[in-house]
Amino acid sequence: MDYGPAPESTKEAQAWLEAHGRRFGLFVDGAWTDAAETFGSFNPADGSELAQVTQASQADIDRAVDAARRAQPGWVALGGHGRAKVLYSLARLLQKHSRLFAVLETLDNGKTIRETRDADLPLAARHFYHHAGWAQLQSEEFADYRAVGVVGQIVPWNFPLLMLAWKIAPALAAGNTVVFKPAEFTSLSALLFAEICQQAGVPAGVVNIVTGDGRVGEAIVNHPGIDKLAFTGSTEVGRIIRKATAGTGKKLSLELGGKSPFIVFDDADLDAAVEGLVDSIWFNQGQVCCAGSRLLVQESVYPRFIEKVKARMRNLRVGSPLDKSNDIGALVDPVQQQRIHGLVESARAEGCEIWQPEAETPQAGAWYLPTLITGASTSAVVAQTEIFGPVLVASSFRTPGEAVQLANNTVYGLAACVWSESISLALDVAPQIKAGVVWINTANQFDAACGFGGYKESGFGREGGKEGMTEYLVPLAEDARPAAPVIAEKGKVKLAAGDSPFAVDRTAKLYIGGKQARPDGAYSRAIIGTNGDFLADVGEGNRKDIRNAVEAAHKASGWAKATAHNRAQVLYYIAENLAIRADEFAARIFAQTGSKDAEGEVKASVERLFYWAAWADKYDGLAHQPPMHGITVALNEPVGVIGIVCPNENPLLGFISLVAPALALGNRVIAVPSEAHPLSALDLYQVLDTSDLPGGALNIVTGSHDELARTLASHFDVDAVWRHDGSAEGCAEVEKLSAESLKRTWTGGAKGRDWFDAKQAGGRAVLQHASQVKNVWIPYGV
Ligand code: NAI
Repeated sequence: MDYGPAPESTKEAQAWLEAHGRRFGLFVDGAWTDAAETFGSFNPADGSELAQVTQASQADIDRAVDAARRAQPGWVALGGHGRAKVLYSLARLLQKHSRLFAVLETLDNGKTIRETRDADLPLAARHFYHHAGWAQLQSEEFADYRAVGVVGQIVPWNFPLLMLAWKIAPALAAGNTVVFKPAEFTSLSALLFAEICQQAGVPAGVVNIVTGDGRVGEAIVNHPGIDKLAFTGSTEVGRIIRKATAGTGKKLSLELGGKSPFIVFDDADLDAAVEGLVDSIWFNQGQVCCAGSRLLVQESVYPRFIEKVKARMRNLRVGSPLDKSNDIGALVDPVQQQRIHGLVESARAEGCEIWQPEAETPQAGAWYLPTLITGASTSAVVAQTEIFGPVLVASSFRTPGEAVQLANNTVYGLAACVWSESISLALDVAPQIKAGVVWINTANQFDAACGFGGYKESGFGREGGKEGMTEYLVPLAEDARPAAPVIAEKGKVKLAAGDSPFAVDRTAKLYIGGKQARPDGAYSRAIIGTNGDFLADVGEGNRKDIRNAVEAAHKASGWAKATAHNRAQVLYYIAENLAIRADEFAARIFAQTGSKDAEGEVKASVERLFYWAAWADKYDGLAHQPPMHGITVALNEPVGVIGIVCPNENPLLGFISLVAPALALGNRVIAVPSEAHPLSALDLYQVLDTSDLPGGALNIVTGSHDELARTLASHFDVDAVWRHDGSAEGCAEVEKLSAESLKRTWTGGAKGRDWFDAKQAGGRAVLQHASQVKNVWIPYGV
């Protein structure tokens, strides 16, 4: 038996387009602009033109940013409850007009009506409901934060309305105003949303919708009136945005590409796994950032599983996306079809086997049949590149260890699926996968309460959940920070050539892998006290020393696996051993800086160690209960290896304030101590040696902040760099260089901190910088 056609009517959507004369201006300051320069928006299923949409100019962006700026204080003043009511109203209106939105989205994007109706729309509405709740609770739950200000948001074409909801709902809830740009292929649902904003009573200027291509995106990114950027799209453009915003002080979150593994163990329910795979790689024609595009199957069931997959692929119905019984619709644009075709043909040329079911695709429009590639090497282009189409690359593995290794063998880290009937195996594997989301025995589940976002080159920042809200907020303590003190003058330094008769013997060494190590270069610098006395020579670390330290840090992976209790104990122990030698440390601080409160600094350092030791086993994750039968466990995982360039002032307290929280959460650290006054950090070697800190968990390299920060930011095996020495140019450089590997950064720019003030030293916000959230979805029942 076959299904007959069940087409959805487009009458209402066409009438809406007609009512606008099939020509749209921009939505700025609560009103429509005239459509000046326009371009066509097409239905990819048949190539017909749906409407003309405006290519925004620089002047348009200026007006939109200005409107958003003017509207922001009033939006904040409306209060949490006032904003909650508006967000609630948006959610209600999305539901009320859900069919119109769903059909319009299908017409514009080519995705099936089943998906727009059953996934995009309900999830978008849920996002506004959920964030109405965060607005309501903001003063309680985020009391120490304020809105960022004006937010620029740029989204791709694969989930036009859903991505809009993911971006706009949290931004508005937190009290920001937005300048939002949809992708040029799919602007229409955002324009319909603008109308909904008018109906919902969103004040003029709070939501501005500007359409156009990448040039409009660029204008938003570079606009000085934008305080934060939220981008979803290709890794390539994400990198451009990272570079463009480096040093500008703009907050940034990036949700980029993926090449997510779909792992099937031999004890999995294979039929259920096949259905999961369909949702994973053939949902939205595979144009999903977290698509399970790499199938990894345990060897013993591989042939059987592949046969089941092929049988299921034969049953996938490809055709008009408006037909409710079709599974696979059109690709967004012929350009994507050509891109996918090119990648698949290159795999064929390399000897891979390409399999497609025998099926017809419509003549007009952009289509691609579901495709299975086997026989590709793990390094093949199709196994590493985001294809962004209905193309699955399959291979096998033998052991769980090999599955993890293959799963992590990509530059991306967005999502993963693990299929096994053994909960113990699945929960053992999930934390080992470097990805922001892991679905156990399910796939492509999303919910507003559960954060979503990547590890590695899949970007940083989260959307959804409490962690998603903090992306749109700034800790109040940041506003209170003073300008960075000029400190370099105080501790006089002079470089000495390594071949001077004393340099080598009298040089304080670096601390790498738990051992003191001579610096690679034969250079040292003399540290002169405030009274002009020579205090010591300090090794001038270089690129090679950083490389050694990174290697040592990676070898110390046991620290990340140590129990939080154990990490807390070590930090307490360091505090205890430091307290025993308080006088000695105070004398050294005084000698270097002339500080009147050197004793206070040691005391505060001991207390801060206690503070972070206390947090080590208390920064627990959350258990979310999204609308499914199961739970989602949000785990706070360490970021990995963090390079920390410490402040120049308060050489002990500044160092401890940054290094201790990073260690507390299981990160391994390469710390670059105060450039002017490094000796307090070096005096810690003996404290560390007697405190059970495993070798390599903390490595200390002294030397030029600029040079060492540069090396850390460029190093592909460093996962994050923090720089808080008040050098605006240095921070900008770190952000720029980090773009290559898309590592996370935390920089203070030209601002300093009062390190004695726990909140200014970072407060609890440091915990967010020291961790990344992984959401593990665990449905239950049979
Ligand atoms: P894209 O990253 O170029 O476009 C995404 C958005 O960024 C669009 O709104 C676009 O107008 C804007 N944009 C483009 N250049 C910009 C710039 N220099 N500055 C600011 N904004 C800019 O993605 P595109 O070209 O649509 O797709 C190309 C490939 O990227 C896809 O084949 C896929 O592999 C990947 N991609 C990944 C997505 C994801 O969700 N991870 C989404 C879309 C694309």
